Amino acid sequence: MSFQIIGTGSAYPAASITNDDISKFVDTSDEWISTRTGIRSRRLAWDETVSDYAVHAAQGALENAGTKPEELDLIICATARGEFLTPSLACVVQSRLGAGCPAFDINAACSGFLYALDAAEGWFARGRASRVLVVAAEQMSELVNWNDRSTCVLFGDGAGAAVLAPGEGLQSICIHAKGSTEELRIACAQGNSPFAKPRENSPFLQMDGKGVYKFAVSAMCHDLEQAIEQAGLSQEEIDLVLPHQANIRIIETAIHRLNIPAERYRTNIDRYGNTSAASIPILLDELNRAGELRPGMMLALTAFGGGLTSGACVIRWTK
Ligand code: UT7
Repeated sequence: MSFQIIGTGSAYPAASITNDDISKFVDTSDEWISTRTGIRSRRLAWDETVSDYAVHAAQGALENAGTKPEELDLIICATARGEFLTPSLACVVQSRLGAGCPAFDINAACSGFLYALDAAEGWFARGRASRVLVVAAEQMSELVNWNDRSTCVLFGDGAGAAVLAPGEGLQSICIHAKGSTEELRIACAQGNSPFAKPRENSPFLQMDGKGVYKFAVSAMCHDLEQAIEQAGLSQEEIDLVLPHQANIRIIETAIHRLNIPAERYRTNIDRYGNTSAASIPILLDELNRAGELRPGMMLALTAFGGGLTSGACVIRWTK
């Protein structure tokens, strides 16, 4: 037994910050950001916490699924960092929803939603769950260095969620990791032990953009090919591709290398930037609410990011 998606939700901070807004504080321009990345604006938290919009996204998904919090058997949150190290973001969401099920976080950076779906699938396979809530939520604006123009302009804050139920929606899923601290890392804050040698560690996201770019294109092509083949489908049979929204040029390069028609790829990076693990479920919710998803459609989801991690899956839309 596998799962189907029966509801989606998304939420983000109220403030939409344009490239021109950022140019007032950082040595950059709308022209550089939009041509190099496809980003025009992003949502950035002012007084919201990541828990706030994670809960709103979860509530939207539950409502869309016609599911009550007390019916949930499991909550998995994908996040690089919740509001607290402990309790997990999943426990905070569980408490604020009024649910009573087990809850835990997964950190697979931008691939977190795919990793969470893979973990959830195991719960259905073991017959342990009939309703699972997956929430991916990130507050990247707290993790980037706003004095580093090469990274701060890229990211945004937001959350996306999905409610899963038993069914035959999931056709295939693959997840991968190629552990490395070279291309992308965010160091943990150091404690104040008088017995520990002070580390010279920036607490902010550090990225070798070109290194990640190379990995991203090859991971996206490889993982999509693998997931589609495992689903027993040809690339032409994929109705919509929902790629992780990191850079429009990564998606365009992958389009040229694969055999899925370009008009089947969906993006919203222009409005949200890179929201890490949240980017795919935010896009999924937008398509669901816009009525773009019809029963029987084959959706291919693909993500890559810090870790380095990546993953892809094929889901038959059943809602
Ligand atoms: O979610 C997964 C994690 N992240 C990614 O997937 C990101 C993958 N990488 C990328 O998307 C691209 O590599 C970036 C968008 C990060 C950078 O694009 P690029 O074409 O590789 O630019 P670059 O780093 O080679 O920089 C080109 C120039 C440099 O100036 P010089 O040395 O040529 O004079 C940078 O200093 O652009 C400069 N630059 C900027 N200029 C204006 C870098 N950032 C900015 C900026 N505004 N924000």
